Amino acid sequence: MIRSEILATGMHVPANLVKNDDLSSMMDTSDEWIRQRTGIEQRYWADATTSTSDLAVEACKKALSNAKVDKSEIDMIIAATLTPDHEFPGLACFVQKKLGIPGVPALDIRQQCTGFIYSMSIADQFIRSGTYKKILIVGAEIHSKGLDKTTVGRDVTVLFGDGAGAVVLAAKDVADPKKDSHILSTHIHADGTFAEELWVEGPGSGVGADRVDFEKLKEGYHYPKMNGKAVFVHAVKRMPEVLQEALTANNLKPEDIDLFVFHQANLRINDMVAKQFNIPEEKVFNTIQKYANTTAATIPIGLDEAVRSGKLKKGMLVASAAFGSGFTWASAIYRY
Ligand code: ACO
Repeated sequence: MIRSEILATGMHVPANLVKNDDLSSMMDTSDEWIRQRTGIEQRYWADATTSTSDLAVEACKKALSNAKVDKSEIDMIIAATLTPDHEFPGLACFVQKKLGIPGVPALDIRQQCTGFIYSMSIADQFIRSGTYKKILIVGAEIHSKGLDKTTVGRDVTVLFGDGAGAVVLAAKDVADPKKDSHILSTHIHADGTFAEELWVEGPGSGVGADRVDFEKLKEGYHYPKMNGKAVFVHAVKRMPEVLQEALTANNLKPEDIDLFVFHQANLRINDMVAKQFNIPEEKVFNTIQKYANTTAATIPIGLDEAVRSGKLKKGMLVASAAFGSGFTWASAIYRY
């Protein structure tokens, strides 16, 4: 049976390290508040000359090199982001231009924190159907250029980092599902009822006569706004629910999974999910301490770090789950 295999991963973050104490000089916050509430210790923020596609391309090049795949073999590019280089065209087209592989389809996924799992799910359908053999998926964000770095925006601004993570997916004829690397299943959901609980209101066609409302710009309608408590409450409900959905679909128990690579929004959310399933600490691979929330990039960054640190080896069974703006939530189980 034809399934999708993750051949290899790659990641890239900008050079500029921003510690929690650095944020205290911009706004009324503290290292203690940020660590206690979120687990975050630092993040990387890009400089003015770097765009999201620059980070994405570096991650893609590393994934291609690690997979020993030439860019000419790629049949499709999927890029997940909520911080594209420009309003349009999408990030995937700029990644394609910079990689130099014209002609293949280039698709953007705008599902925020679940963007990477949504991308995996779509890529998996194209590969299972036999349409494509090799797909490059990248999740990339530059949040730092869109955050309110005053005390007004502190509840959101301290949470986010910039970065990119990529994987090369390839068609594989799976003979032994218990041994061969492949995606077992993906599960994707959304409930737009909560779209405004975590969003950027404008610029956009949903506000007034022009996409850009200069009065509203002055009020900061272009900065993300979040109902943190609502996000937290829904995340600790939906992530376990969608993780259980994936386990049930594959007739697996939590103890069958070798490594959990969850979305990184808040360490407390991941601790609560792990507790519900009695997952031992050493089986949950968190990177939020180092990189903060890089949204669509958290899971591929986690996979790449886990591979490089020796925590994730070929043949291991991995589960991922994510929750974020939309609200959207998703899970995947795959043998790496
Ligand atoms: N530094 C210091 N104080 C702060 C900060 C800050 N950065 N931010 C808020 N505060 C203050 C608040 O003003 C409030 O003060 P008050 O009591 O005087 O009114 C106090 O700290 C407590 O604020 P709460 O909002 O109650 O803090 P809470 O314990 O809920 O934690 C947090 C806030 C960390 C944001 C939490 O709600 C959370 O993690 N929510 C989920 C975040 C998330 O998952 N986001 C999704 C990912 S993003 C995406 O999908 C794009």
